[in-house]
Amino acid sequence: MKNFAVQLLLLLISFLLNSRNGIEASTCSNSIDPIKYRIPKEQPYRTSYHFQPPQNWMNDPNAPMYYKGVYHLFYQHNPLAATFGDIIVWAHSVSYDLINWIHLNIALEPSGPYDINSCWSGSATILPGEKPAILYTGIDHYKNEVQNLAIPKNLTDAFLREWEKHPQNPVMTPPTGVEEDNFRDPSTAWHGKDGKWRVIVGAQNGDEGKTILYQSEDFVNWTVNPNPFFATDNTGVCECPDFFPVYINSTNGVDTSVDNSSVRHVLKISYLRKQHDYYFLGKYVSDKENFVPDVEFTGTSKDLRFDYGKFYASKSFFDYAKNRRILWGWVNESDSTQDDIEKGWAGLQTIPRKVWLDKSGKRLMQWPIEEIENLRHKQISITGEKLEGGSTLEISGINVSQVDVEVLFELPELESGDWLEDPSEVDPQLLCSKQHASRSGKIGPFGLLALASKDLTEETAVSFQIFRASNRYLCLMCSDQSRSSLRNDLDKTTYGTIFDIDPNLKTISLRTLIDKSIIESFGDGGKAVITSRVYPLLAIEKDAHLYVFNNGSQSVVISKLNAWSMKQAEIGHEGNINCA
Ligand SMILES: *[C@@H]1O[C@H](CO)[C@@H](O)[C@H](O)[C@H]1NC(C)=O
Ligand SMILES: *[C@@H]1O[C@H](CO)[C@@H](O)[C@H](O)[C@H]1NC(C)=O
Ligand SMILES: *[C@@H]1O[C@H](CO)[C@@H](O)[C@H](O)[C@H]1NC(C)=O
Ligand SMILES: *[C@@H]1O[C@H](CO)[C@@H](O)[C@H](O)[C@H]1NC(C)=O
Ligand SMILES: *[C@@H]1O[C@H](CO)[C@@H](O)[C@H](O)[C@H]1NC(C)=O
Ligand SMILES: *[C@@H]1O[C@H](CO)[C@@H](O)[C@H](O)[C@H]1NC(C)=O
Ligand SMILES: *[C@@H]1O[C@H](CO)[C@@H](O)[C@H](O)[C@H]1NC(C)=O
Repeated sequence: MKNFAVQLLLLLISFLLNSRNGIEASTCSNSIDPIKYRIPKEQPYRTSYHFQPPQNWMNDPNAPMYYKGVYHLFYQHNPLAATFGDIIVWAHSVSYDLINWIHLNIALEPSGPYDINSCWSGSATILPGEKPAILYTGIDHYKNEVQNLAIPKNLTDAFLREWEKHPQNPVMTPPTGVEEDNFRDPSTAWHGKDGKWRVIVGAQNGDEGKTILYQSEDFVNWTVNPNPFFATDNTGVCECPDFFPVYINSTNGVDTSVDNSSVRHVLKISYLRKQHDYYFLGKYVSDKENFVPDVEFTGTSKDLRFDYGKFYASKSFFDYAKNRRILWGWVNESDSTQDDIEKGWAGLQTIPRKVWLDKSGKRLMQWPIEEIENLRHKQISITGEKLEGGSTLEISGINVSQVDVEVLFELPELESGDWLEDPSEVDPQLLCSKQHASRSGKIGPFGLLALASKDLTEETAVSFQIFRASNRYLCLMCSDQSRSSLRNDLDKTTYGTIFDIDPNLKTISLRTLIDKSIIESFGDGGKAVITSRVYPLLAIEKDAHLYVFNNGSQSVVISKLNAWSMKQAEIGHEGNINCA
């Protein structure tokens, strides 16, 4: 009973502190540290180096761009609650390195009949003379969706604090063949060889999902193309379309308007019904103004996704300062709405990723931006350590609740992998679920146990297993949340994907970014990415452990492992960002 009374008192104190200082107090201070009593700290799940608003709800990233030495990120935000709301605005933050962020005032909020019921997602385009312009979706007076234009008030302000809505708004209204409440999320525009701008907007008509192309000479007067840019049956609305070129022979990024024989094109769609971001490599047929994907959408696990875990409404931009294309995506919570209300916040953005075309030309590669390495702090290294089947090895001595870990595994002969009869019929998510990692294969499952409790009652296994099929080898990559927490009120869906590997592959890499309640894993150099959200009860802060494990019958060798504690990123309001 005595312990209980102390707990109540501590909770009361933390509540008072928290309500006085807002959520930042809990991110930036370690004020209450109950030494003897096991109480959950008030914010064990709040991240330390991922982008989050100071409080309340966040969903889609909007209009990421680089302008005059400053990176901008806008995002969908409910300023009043930790849940999606009737009024959504564009919050705005800026950064010099995409890691440490300064929160600014709201950039766009309802103000006219064309957006009075919310300012939904959109994108930025840098017009000639280095003039940024934003096209965004307004929920109008009739609750229809229209597209609006906003431009900065003061171009000499590199923070672009204030935005002006164009007097001719709305600049696009739902055209024929598009549902009035399913017409949204304009992309970044590109400049055609005829000097006209083109932009695509997501839409739906019945079961058909489509993206509609508009053209303009002046960015204000837009003309709809009668034929869809891209359409799919039985998919429902195409949200947040993103369309961009990638170099065929380089990992560098390229400006959105480039269209020549050095590039291929990528179209990304966030299918609302699937709640996933799918991308298509294909051909932009500029004289017909449409996009022809190399491979049709199938609605199965064969479709390419940026991320096979929790990741939606992503958006990319060309960072001309470093000649790279950067991708951001929204990572939802997987606890309950009630939990979000209690936490006071919901929603993360991934660590920004560099994206480029794989040498095979058949998929994109992704890798955390190099700036994240500046947060690396205390390091642990292991080389040439053999992991027998059924063994685990703890990585200790660093802060493993906020860590960046890179492991290179040396594989046995691929010939000894498990046989897979018909790879094209495999559902990787299914194969990964149901305690996959505890069943012994031949080569794997092996990988990491992230945010694990000492006794392993809680752990999230991120693993690989190698298979052979006729004439090919494959790697199954899984992130298994089924034992991630003793809590039962969570979405613990297991995620997985399977991809071809080089028959001469000798090693395979796994990079995992762990940050309190998010685990982002990059397999085989960035060929496959899985992001998950977990909310352990035991494996928090000092009680979080990290292990390398091998549950295959064959041994694997940790050829090289480096793990770094990550410093907290400085994320806060202007003039008040020094939380560290
Ligand atoms: C525009 O921004 C610059 C740089 O922040 C500032 O010095 C200037 O006063 C601003 N001009 C106006 C009219 O607000
Ligand atoms: C808008 O553009 C179309 C097509 O270029 C043109 O026919 C029309 O006159 C323009 N309208 C205005 C108001 O500029
Ligand atoms: C890419 O590089 C390969 C090998 O160097 C070359 O054969 C091919 O022509 C290049 N393709 C393009 C589009 O530059
Ligand atoms: C395509 O455009 C890029 C960017 O301007 C340029 O670097 C490249 O050389 C161009 N390729 C060809 C084949 O013109
Ligand atoms: C967000 O999470 C909630 C709760 O887990 C889920 O119902 C919803 O489908 C998710 N949405 C997306 C876009 O992931
Ligand atoms: C890990 O970092 C967090 C936040 O910076 C801190 O509260 C905790 O004490 C650290 N744990 C260890 C073991 O250093
Ligand atoms: C590895 O296998 C053992 C024995 O089946 C099992 O107890 C353990 O949970 C497995 N590890 C993982 C990460 O599933």
